[in-house]
Amino acid sequence: MSPFSHSEYDNHLRVSFVADPDSGLRAIHAIHRPVDGRTGGGIRFRPYASDDEALTDVLRLSKAMSYKFALAGLPAGGAKTVIIGDPAKLKTPELLTAYARYVESLGGLYIAGPDIGTNADDMTELARTTRFVAGRSDLSGTTAIPTAQGCFSALKATIRAAFGRDDFTGLRIAIQGVGGVGGVLVQMLADAGADLVVADIDQAALDAAAALGAKVVSPDKILAADVDLLSPNAMGAVLSKTSISTIKARAICGCANNQLATPDCAQALVDQGILWAPDYVVSAGGAIDGSKDAGLITAQESAAKIDGIGATLATIFDSAKRQNITTEAAAHALAQDLIGQFE
Ligand SMILES: NC(=O)c1ccc[n+]([C@@H]2O[C@H](COP(=O)([O-])OP(=O)(O)OC[C@H]3O[C@@H](n4cnc5c(N)ncnc54)[C@H](O)[C@@H]3O)[C@@H](O)[C@H]2O)c1
Repeated sequence: MSPFSHSEYDNHLRVSFVADPDSGLRAIHAIHRPVDGRTGGGIRFRPYASDDEALTDVLRLSKAMSYKFALAGLPAGGAKTVIIGDPAKLKTPELLTAYARYVESLGGLYIAGPDIGTNADDMTELARTTRFVAGRSDLSGTTAIPTAQGCFSALKATIRAAFGRDDFTGLRIAIQGVGGVGGVLVQMLADAGADLVVADIDQAALDAAAALGAKVVSPDKILAADVDLLSPNAMGAVLSKTSISTIKARAICGCANNQLATPDCAQALVDQGILWAPDYVVSAGGAIDGSKDAGLITAQESAAKIDGIGATLATIFDSAKRQNITTEAAAHALAQDLIGQFE
């Protein structure tokens, strides 16, 4: 399919197909809207079922990055990379170096970061070849901590809007996925007095959460758990028409990217009486921290922006309520306003 006629094309500035037969690299890189000549976005490494699926994913994700950066007040536009293949089999220093050469050739138009299938050590590997990489293990290390901190600020705004509460004591919260981000959230929410239920497919991650007092349920029970709030922190597309009809929580706030299986799920959540915090607002902490590593903002600005995620979310909740629109539509409108100011 030609990217021009693709439903997710949205006038991307550039879509590049990057290959290096020697290392097996096959990647698609999409640049949505630069701001001040700069874009940023993670490198997702996945065994896509087809090249079309990879193209759809990269176009959607780079546009979402533009929204994420705009709503986080960051001086960069959105971009994204998908590398096609199984990272467990394909990821080698040679392949990462080949991709780093491509990133370097863009001269700073794109700053790469980690995403599913890549990590902070991979970013350090890239940094041997390119200057334009954030989220390195030799700098701030894992982005899970700032991402969880931003999520905690978002959670506070969510419980204020949904339950009129300012504290987590006794609040029943289900967390799907207690890996990097979810694991830190367990710690923060347990400290804040929440009553936690968790699910994961990784026993070590579950053991760590259970040690902090969380109750463990099987992965197929977590979305429908009898709780006040649900926090998805595993994978995307978990909020489908089917799953939404089973959710008992009255509010959803988590960092998993692209939580809505289809756009109309935003309305399905409203119809079910559930307040949903748009994920690209909630999960901006890692991108904010990466922007600090990339020299776009200071450490002080980074801390303030991470803490400010809750305030942005409160504006979105407010606007959705006033206009009787979904929180997704309100976030979208605010992001487009902010992006428009740069264009
Ligand atoms: N790390 C970041 O800085 C960051 C930033 C923005 C968004 N996100 C998003 O947040 C989510 C979590 O990121 P992370 O860095 O913690 O990833 P992670 O891989 O460290 O943790 C994800 C956890 O989910 C678990 N999981 C996988 N399938 C599951 C299932 N079916 N049921 C329950 N648990 C399952 C995994 O075992 C793992 O423990 C992802 O969707 C990621 O894209 C992360």
